Amino acid sequence: MTEPMIKACGLIKRYGEVTALDGVDLQVQGGTVYALLGPNGAGKTTMINILTTLIEPTAGDGFIAGNHVVREAEAVRRIIGVTFQDLVLDRGLTGRQVLDIHGRLYHQSREVRRRRIEELIELIQLGDAIDRNVRTYSGGMQRRLELARGLMTNPQIIFLDEPTQGLDPQNRAAIWDYIRSLRHEQGLTVLLTTHFMEEAEALADMVGIIDHGHKVIEGTPKELVASIGADVISITGTGDNSHFLQRIQNLSYIDQISHSNHDGVIQIGVDNGARRIAEIVSYAGGNGYVIEDIVVARPSLGDVFLKYTGRALRDK
Ligand SMILES: Nc1ncnc2c1ncn2[C@@H]1O[C@H](COP(=O)(O)OP(=O)(O)OP(=O)(O)O)[C@@H](O)[C@H]1O
Ligand SMILES: [Mg+2]
Repeated sequence: MTEPMIKACGLIKRYGEVTALDGVDLQVQGGTVYALLGPNGAGKTTMINILTTLIEPTAGDGFIAGNHVVREAEAVRRIIGVTFQDLVLDRGLTGRQVLDIHGRLYHQSREVRRRRIEELIELIQLGDAIDRNVRTYSGGMQRRLELARGLMTNPQIIFLDEPTQGLDPQNRAAIWDYIRSLRHEQGLTVLLTTHFMEEAEALADMVGIIDHGHKVIEGTPKELVASIGADVISITGTGDNSHFLQRIQNLSYIDQISHSNHDGVIQIGVDNGARRIAEIVSYAGGNGYVIEDIVVARPSLGDVFLKYTGRALRDK
């Protein structure tokens, strides 16, 4: 494996009595999207703030493309972009002014700024609104502008702290599209934080679940879901099910079968519900059992979160 673009080694951050990060390791490979998924207060923003040089860790090291986030903070700032969880846009400015000022801060020439702003308007589809006061923007437009601001300096690496916080599903989907295009068309490395499972699942190559300042587990969305085991097929039907149950109980891909006498529901744990369902239906028909309802439940990242942290994610 090549040297990771983003690397954290044993990061600790204490605020007096509060330990916001308790020794977090992290590696993000170039050109991939990594999602830090965790509930309120888990330490996500603290992580972003350290890696983007805004605050210093109490202990441990962070590296961005090999540059140390404390000792080489200047070099780090030159190659990253960041968008904040709490929008910091000056609402008295137009969108164009926000972007232009950001470019000037980074000593971009007038011509470079003009060109970059045109590209970004295209990307985030702000259209004529770019010349209106930010005050008049909807939440979705402000998030899009904030994303454009983070991209203004053509960073190789972008940190997005809760990029879709407060957005409705439609606006969230639009931001997802932009983030996907950054990765796929421009090869950016993205570290984002979120407390939406769907967001991590939709965008990330790798997901790290963080809770109470600890990274509790990490993997691709698929690996994480697979780590908690089988799909469950639930069946209700009529007729004698004994032959059917007998026939399927020794199939190699079936983990377990439970049959409730109370409501007649048969639950079958299988390695891959979608692939096995047709076969199971045919065994029922062939053994005198008529299926009336059948549902495949796949574990989700939500179930993964519950398993590894012992609680549901939405705790707001
Ligand atoms: N400046 C600060 N002073 C004291 N405590 C802080 C400070 N910043 C963060 N904390 C605490 O550190 C912990 C982690 O906070 P952090 O903002 O990193 O969490 P988060 O995962 O981003 O949460 P959220 O999902 O709400 O954004 C929390 O307990 C928080 O109260
Ligand atoms: Mg946060």
